[in-house]
Amino acid sequence: MRALILVGGYGTRLRPLTLSRPKPLVEFANKPILLHQIEALVKAGVTKVILAVSYRAEQMEEELSQEARKLGISVIFSHETEPLGTAGPLALASDIIKQSSEPFFVLNSDIICEFPFKELADYHRVHGKEGTIVVTKVKEPSKYGVVVYDEKGCVERFVEKPQEFISNKINAGLYILNPSVLNRIELKPTSIEKEVFPGMAGDGELYAFELEGFWMDVGQPKDFLTGMCLYLKSLRQKAADLLYNGPGTVGNVLVDPTAKIGTGCQIGPDVTIGPGVVVEDGVCIKRCTILRNTVIKSHSWLENCIIGWRCVVGRWVRLEGITVLGEDVIVKDEIYINGGQVLPNKSIAASVPEPQIIM
Ligand code: GDD
Ligand code: MG
Repeated sequence: MRALILVGGYGTRLRPLTLSRPKPLVEFANKPILLHQIEALVKAGVTKVILAVSYRAEQMEEELSQEARKLGISVIFSHETEPLGTAGPLALASDIIKQSSEPFFVLNSDIICEFPFKELADYHRVHGKEGTIVVTKVKEPSKYGVVVYDEKGCVERFVEKPQEFISNKINAGLYILNPSVLNRIELKPTSIEKEVFPGMAGDGELYAFELEGFWMDVGQPKDFLTGMCLYLKSLRQKAADLLYNGPGTVGNVLVDPTAKIGTGCQIGPDVTIGPGVVVEDGVCIKRCTILRNTVIKSHSWLENCIIGWRCVVGRWVRLEGITVLGEDVIVKDEIYINGGQVLPNKSIAASVPEPQIIM
């Protein structure tokens, strides 16, 4: 089978991390978000993945070509010269999609869940219509595409980011579509949510598939951390041996084997520590992601943070309130940061008591 992953977009909501790496390559639980998806697709029998890219394609090509070789699949890069939205990229890749009459998967690249690709494909074949979208329940539906469907799963309405409450069932950003959908899409910037799904729903050609288990769009820091907690919880249930249980561990913690953790630390609950990270003695970390090659010096305290690559967090530092450090940031000893978003290559020598962007 084949899949197209939408990996364009600027990832502005995940800045400052996306100033250094495109959103799909940012490591979620120590693996690029995109690789979580590709591995799940391969498990379901996908052998060809089309990556619809509009921005920072070179970096993505370099890293993913290697991964594709390892997984034994072919990855095709479909380059946009202007961002084509969420449907235009399908038209751009139409030659590849039309090579077979088999249905194909489409994915938003910032989604994490227990990907149900096999079950989705089976369900799609049984109802026999043009498309199936995966739906999940959320508390804040206004941030998403809302889906209204009958007891058989036939979608009656699709409303992208509604101002007023319609339903709490939303588009999870995973689809399976028949190639005939291409007849509905022109080669120009087009939104699949606003311009394609409402028409398909009107024609009775769109079905909903309810997702089981957790789901999160990890395209912004707060949700990235919530998604990490849910992912670690599901690892605990499904593959607990992958979790870390060294001294001082609390709850679900993931630590790359090349990371070093000092003595007298308290790590967890809900922490991911990347390759090459050094955590010195007496450090306390809760609900954080620490990315590759960062150093956290002794007796620092971190909660609700994403610490970018190659950062140095000084001694007795306190970071909290969804603080995000970009790549190569230095935080001097004894500094306090609450909700700071620090751009790459900065050195912070004064405390930041209120949430703000530090340029
Ligand atoms: N190739 C390409 N070109 N990809 C794009 C472009 C583009 O011009 N614009 C956005 N994308 C990609 C993004 O990288 C992302 O993977 C996906 O399309 C969706 O864009 P987001 O910007 O993340 O949209 P959203 O999160 O506001 O809403 C979408 O996802 C929700 C689920 O998280 C919609 O599909 C909603 O209906 C859905 O509920
Ligand atoms: Mg998104």
